[in-house]
Amino acid sequence: MKVLVVGGGGREHALIRKIKESDRVDSIACCPGNGGISYDAECYDVSATDIDGVVKLAKDIQADFVVVAPDDPLVAGMVDALNEAGFATFGPTADAAMIEGSKVFSKNLMLKYNIPTAEYRVFDNADDVIAYLKEKNEFPAVIKADGLALGKGVIIPESLEEAVAGVKEIMEDKIFGESGNHVVVEEFLTGPEVSVLAFTDGKCVKPMVSSMDHKRALDGDKGLNTGGMGTVSPNPYYTEEVARECMEKIFIPTIQAMNEEGRTFKGCLYFGLMITPKGPKVIEYNCRFGDPETQVVLPRLKTDIMDIFEAINKQTLSDLDIEWSDEASACVIMASGGYPKSYPKGIEITGLTDGQLDGVTVYHAGTAVKDGKLVTSGGRVLGVTALGNTLEEALEKSYDAVNQIHFENAHYRKDIGQRALNALK
Ligand code: AMP
Ligand code: GLY
Repeated sequence: MKVLVVGGGGREHALIRKIKESDRVDSIACCPGNGGISYDAECYDVSATDIDGVVKLAKDIQADFVVVAPDDPLVAGMVDALNEAGFATFGPTADAAMIEGSKVFSKNLMLKYNIPTAEYRVFDNADDVIAYLKEKNEFPAVIKADGLALGKGVIIPESLEEAVAGVKEIMEDKIFGESGNHVVVEEFLTGPEVSVLAFTDGKCVKPMVSSMDHKRALDGDKGLNTGGMGTVSPNPYYTEEVARECMEKIFIPTIQAMNEEGRTFKGCLYFGLMITPKGPKVIEYNCRFGDPETQVVLPRLKTDIMDIFEAINKQTLSDLDIEWSDEASACVIMASGGYPKSYPKGIEITGLTDGQLDGVTVYHAGTAVKDGKLVTSGGRVLGVTALGNTLEEALEKSYDAVNQIHFENAHYRKDIGQRALNALK
């Protein structure tokens, strides 16, 4: 088989590395890919959001299977276009991807089908939001832009002043464009967060092993929100009891709800959960693999991933047993100095051979090869991942490797996994 993967970050690199293990795969292509991915796949300079361009590329290279990884092309209907052109695909169609594409849609879905989530109200103008927040006068408040916003569409203001400024940015200055036409204001929940990625073909749902993201830029969960500064798997807060409750009250009802709505979801559905004192609740749905959750979850997958992708495509997932390793895994993100604000690009990375280092897997998120040298090309640069018999062991291996990799002003958190380790004590 020739497999085309659409996207160009650490998540896509992790997918490609797993696809490469399949006996059935002869070659892998990626668009646009990145410097590190180019060691594992043929990279083509076609943007991940260019639907016509990707369909044309799939035809040109005669792809047998296309995996669409990022949210924007899924929400925009890339899978629909590829299916129409006759390609076998992995990823939801646009009507199903709406579960991530619109927070108003997903909140209304959960309300209608009784799926546990934070209480909420929907607004379509800034004055009404501000009047509501003033009247309620409860902070922190949680305000979410309706549409996709590069993972930055959620603000959690501590005061009315902060809330007013944030709402104005989203709804009047339109910093996220049309995504800010509506906002959801919801109840502030507390409790540990768990990410669960799940394979589903619309008939059955098979959750993958759990993980924990670290979204803030700085140690101790301080600083700005980022796409994710590191992950560990499993997540100790996701006990067997919690898993059972999630399956019964959240995972199965969500798949059924999407079917009821005529929006059958086929692909990877990401459940962002909070384990509140009143039980697990959905914080968000994503219509795709998480980044950097994929970088710790897929290394533990033992089943051929192409068998899973094909079973989902043919809706025969219930016949397949999916096996996972018992090992723990940890991923430490090395980011450019300044991220998630502005940062320089083109800085040389040293310490790697063909993009890798013994004993760990280095997933490339923002790298390029320039004049034969590996350089930085994004905010998140590398995801250094290790497996271990225990989480401590995995973390030790990851951090040992991080200390051998260098680029000027590299920034990484020193406390990835600490929360999980404390929970295990
Ligand atoms: P999201 O992009 O929806 O995942 O939100 C980003 C982060 O905001 C989440 O990972 C949570 O830490 C936090 N968050 C979102 N919704 C809530 C909520 N209702 N209560 C408390 N924290 C929240
Ligand atoms: N790591 C969170 C996400 O992929 O949205």
